[in-house]
Amino acid sequence: MMVAMATEHVIDVRHWNDALFSFRTTRDPGFRFDSGQFVMIGLETDGRPLMRAYSIASASWEEHLEFFSIKVANGPLTSRLQHLKPDDPLIVTRKPTGTLVLNDLKPGKNLYLLGTGTGLAPFLSIVRDPETYERFDRVVLAHGVRRIEDLAYAHYLQHELPQHEYLGELVREKLIYYPTVTREAFRHRGRITDAIVDGVMSEAIGLPPLNPQTDRVMLCGSPAMLDDLCGLLEGRGFQPSPRTREPGDYVIERAFVEK
Ligand code: A2P
Repeated sequence: MMVAMATEHVIDVRHWNDALFSFRTTRDPGFRFDSGQFVMIGLETDGRPLMRAYSIASASWEEHLEFFSIKVANGPLTSRLQHLKPDDPLIVTRKPTGTLVLNDLKPGKNLYLLGTGTGLAPFLSIVRDPETYERFDRVVLAHGVRRIEDLAYAHYLQHELPQHEYLGELVREKLIYYPTVTREAFRHRGRITDAIVDGVMSEAIGLPPLNPQTDRVMLCGSPAMLDDLCGLLEGRGFQPSPRTREPGDYVIERAFVEK
């Protein structure tokens, strides 16, 4: 089956460090997606499109598309994507998909967005969606990384988004950003899993321990991170959103990493 594809163009590229970068592209005004979804993007190589799944990091109301990526030295696609320059073409499929969507969660009081590494990407879209704040009283965005320099978007989340013209007030009232670093000293140190089990995170953010009565969770990270967090949540009585797309207490998506 032919998948419909569009060619967008790079607007700008931001390199966070040797291993992480973000880029923005033009967006066909007819292209629609829900916050948290992913799409296939790629480049033409040897006359064929080389495509990989990427979460859309921009908000669904923005005029551009944004992606957050690692750089893999021998990765077939990222070894080339990291050299993108403004005006370069980028192929984007027209069919967004994915499980990290608000509609797959039951109503609740607090929303926890737990991501490691580039697993932050879909949550950048979700925290820029006003509907997120309509549905939840508090939105906790936890980002777990190895080193402080991997905390991409930290400045944006702490200083820019809270001042945003339209979203700022909601963000200041409801969004709690919890960055945590595992391999060097930082104000929050350790894995997200440990921060939940030890109660360190709930103490720091001033919310009660995770509870399926009140809390909903979205997970995006490595397979090991997802395994551990699913086990932890199920141990506390959280029900995943089933395949039938009934809303659940939590939803998961693997961060797309081998690129
Ligand atoms: P650690 O440094 O202890 O491995 P990666 O770059 O490998 O994707 O890791 C991103 C972050 O996710 C790191 O802080 C890493 O911690 C953490 N991490 C790795 N495995 C897990 C897991 N099973 N549960 C929670 N966090 C994890």
